[in-house]
Amino acid sequence: MSEPLILPPLSAAWGSVRLPGSKSISNRMLLLAALAEGTTEIFDLLDSDDTRVMLDALRKLGVGVTAIGTDAWRIEGCRGKFPVTEADLFMGNAGTAIRPLTAALALSGGHYRLSGVPRMHERPIGDLLDGLRQIGADVRCAGNEGFPPLEIFPASIHLAGPIRLRGDVSSQFLTALLMALPLTGEELVIELTTELISKPYVEITLNLMARFGVSVEREGWQRFRIVGGQRYRSPGQLHVEGDASSASYFLAAGAIAGGPVRVEGVGRNSIQGDVRFAEALESLGASILRGENFIEARAPVAGQLKAFDLDFNHIPDAAMTLAVVALFTNGRCVLRNIGSWRVKETDRISAMATELRKFGAVVEEGDDWLAVSPAPSLRRAVAVDTYDDHRMAMCFSLVALAGAPVSINDPGCVAKTFPGYFDAFASVTVPVIAIDGPSASGKGTVAARVAQALGFHYLDSGALYRLTALAATRAGKALDDEPGVAALARVLPARFEGDRVFLDGEDVSDAIRSEEMSVGASRVAVLPAVRAGLLARQRAWRRFPGLVADGRDMGSVVFPGAEVKVFLTASAEARAERRYKQLIGKGLPANMHALLQDLQERDARDAQRREAPLRQSDDAIGVDTTLMNIEEALAAVMAIVRKRLP
Ligand code: DC
Repeated sequence: MSEPLILPPLSAAWGSVRLPGSKSISNRMLLLAALAEGTTEIFDLLDSDDTRVMLDALRKLGVGVTAIGTDAWRIEGCRGKFPVTEADLFMGNAGTAIRPLTAALALSGGHYRLSGVPRMHERPIGDLLDGLRQIGADVRCAGNEGFPPLEIFPASIHLAGPIRLRGDVSSQFLTALLMALPLTGEELVIELTTELISKPYVEITLNLMARFGVSVEREGWQRFRIVGGQRYRSPGQLHVEGDASSASYFLAAGAIAGGPVRVEGVGRNSIQGDVRFAEALESLGASILRGENFIEARAPVAGQLKAFDLDFNHIPDAAMTLAVVALFTNGRCVLRNIGSWRVKETDRISAMATELRKFGAVVEEGDDWLAVSPAPSLRRAVAVDTYDDHRMAMCFSLVALAGAPVSINDPGCVAKTFPGYFDAFASVTVPVIAIDGPSASGKGTVAARVAQALGFHYLDSGALYRLTALAATRAGKALDDEPGVAALARVLPARFEGDRVFLDGEDVSDAIRSEEMSVGASRVAVLPAVRAGLLARQRAWRRFPGLVADGRDMGSVVFPGAEVKVFLTASAEARAERRYKQLIGKGLPANMHALLQDLQERDARDAQRREAPLRQSDDAIGVDTTLMNIEEALAAVMAIVRKRLP
């Protein structure tokens, strides 16, 4: 168990998040690639516990699995014949791995044992085994009948009439059979004997099978026919969409706390059913914007989200997020048709009810439904238990947006599907104070002192441009070589430690402050590709509990939603004089006239460039420090901060 994480009180959400790859797509693609003929390269694969379980299992089965870059893998297909015919496989708590693998292994003629964590041994798999046994597969339960651990023996598969399968416990049983059956090469029919739940997940399965060359004819959601003679063939290269279930937390944050919050990696043409979570938010009054590769959510114009009474059978995972969103609505909310929650990572209906009650909400619970009535005022400083369920941890992070601190027990459980979740959550919820202004306006000193007073992180963005100029100079690159300098900026080996700055391990704190690097920085800063190359790195500074960022475009480009925006300025003469005193104080030579001319030239270059020019934006508060000393400037800025931040 990991140490509890205390989330500070948060009041607003804005910004954008690049989503990790979809779990459902990642694990299906891995297995299909392994079963196919030919080599498949998969890009943007999710890196998490559940995908590692699948990768490890494939490796153990003798499938060629090679990393070919960050989150990119090459899989050598084995045409359904796993090279290793006897193995013990540990499946953790990954339902998306154990179910389809069980089906594929049952048809492969080998001898295998599959087990998982204790909770996995409580999660049903009996319906799938029934289906497999109808065609002669020999799969036995080593513990309780109908549950893992499992032992699979070689068997002769014989096809007799349609396979009859239940679809009301987990859609993964159907997914598992659909993916495995083409290995027989025969015509096969699956008939569901009960209503199918979570249909959009089966659509993902059919979609991915089609990309590997196998089509399935379906009559409604009752009958599925796989025409004989089809084989999986690698489509070559594939790309995994961002995870739509993971997107739900960020979209919810935008809908609850202002927004806009944008998730990148899924869009209007996503093949994942969970993108329909955005429709649910819309029905609560949130505004949603959909692009090719992004979805964005904002709070309702009218303010509060509306209470809801909805059927969530089609989006069981993302629906959990709505159980917590219910706390932010104006009345009793009902989540219907969510019986599958009971057999997931934990009994999610019971876990959700228990934890929501800790905040003072009134929760009613049925076999397959949950009703949540928000508390008039949420109880503060609650410690949330997460039941080794990644979604419990992610869902309850949203409660911090009520402006009360929340403690999340065992936050590390998010690694099941989203190891970087809390950093990503911070990157759209942490308050930002942006202090922009021209060189030597005192903003660096003031910003660092504000950060210290509040216990916030401090980003000196000018240092990044200075470091870029230094790195470029050392690499012998011309400072106007846009692609060359931008390439350096993107991978700058920079490290900040207190007030020291390191480049490639060397302390360059003084070197980047030279007049040469001041001029160099303002020259590389005009290049749009350099600015773009430094953007993600600057945004990554937004971490708990808060950030003070100084520069030229902190409030306009890098953190446009910043809670506080200050534009600090002073006359050129006053700034030249400050710089002069600084240099003399350090025992360095200085010439007042040259300094003034230099400053004016840099101001002009910063103000006239096309990209993010230096100017006070409409929503920034101006502070002219010409006649102030540093203490007075600090007091002026702190007064603004106190008024804006609760
Ligand atoms: O704040 P500073 O003097 O250390 O900045 C050095 C140069 O970097 C400055 O001339 C303009 C550029 N810069 C920028 O363009 N955008 C920022 N956010 C910060 C600095």
